Amino acid sequence: MKPPVAPFGDGTVTLRLIEERDLTTILDWRNRDEARVWFKTSGKLSLDSHKRWYERYLAKDDDFFFLIEAGGTPVGQCGIYDIDRTCGSAEIGRFLVAPDKTGRGYITRSCAELVRFGTRILGLPYLFLEVMERNDKAIKIYKQCGFTEESRSEGLMRMGFRWNHRQ
Ligand SMILES: CC(C)(COP(=O)(O)OP(=O)(O)OC[C@H]1O[C@@H](n2cnc3c(N)ncnc32)[C@H](O)[C@@H]1OP(=O)(O)O)[C@@H](O)C(=O)NCCC(=O)NCCS
Repeated sequence: MKPPVAPFGDGTVTLRLIEERDLTTILDWRNRDEARVWFKTSGKLSLDSHKRWYERYLAKDDDFFFLIEAGGTPVGQCGIYDIDRTCGSAEIGRFLVAPDKTGRGYITRSCAELVRFGTRILGLPYLFLEVMERNDKAIKIYKQCGFTEESRSEGLMRMGFRWNHRQ
């Protein structure tokens, strides 16, 4: 069962857990040709399969998927998942901006907030992500948030962030 997470943010963006009422919005974002090509599972998703995925997601306690809001309006999404409390690690990703909200710094801010949540709130010293090595825009954001390249394989770059509690 998923533990509750209170919304958090930096005053410009607020990250709150996605709810059933958000499913069509995030599916529409995810299914746009410009967006889906950047994900490992890049085919179009149906609403039925999306709903089934959401039911499975609700049962997990190692996966938090956030809707990003600015001024009360949905502007994007992101997530932290495969949280391993024993190893102290998690993956971050599912970054996506609403089509009419690009380039406003919302995703950069959200990535920074997600890193803060993962390290300081969940207490995980190591976060990682995978990104297509051609996705310059996303890589720039991750570098800005402190991630560094760790390896590359088959067009994917793995990046990591190590948190020192004195930071
Ligand atoms: C990758 C993606 C999420 C980035 O969204 P975005 O809205 O462009 O992100 P941001 O606005 O936060 O950052 C992008 C730009 O804004 C700039 N920026 C950052 N903070 C800013 C601020 N406070 N004010 C203004 N601009 C800012 C960034 O430096 C960057 O500049 P650039 O245009 O020179 O590259 C978006 O392109 C997307 O949805 N892509 C498809 C899905 C995808 O690739 N997801 C990642 C999979 S790993």
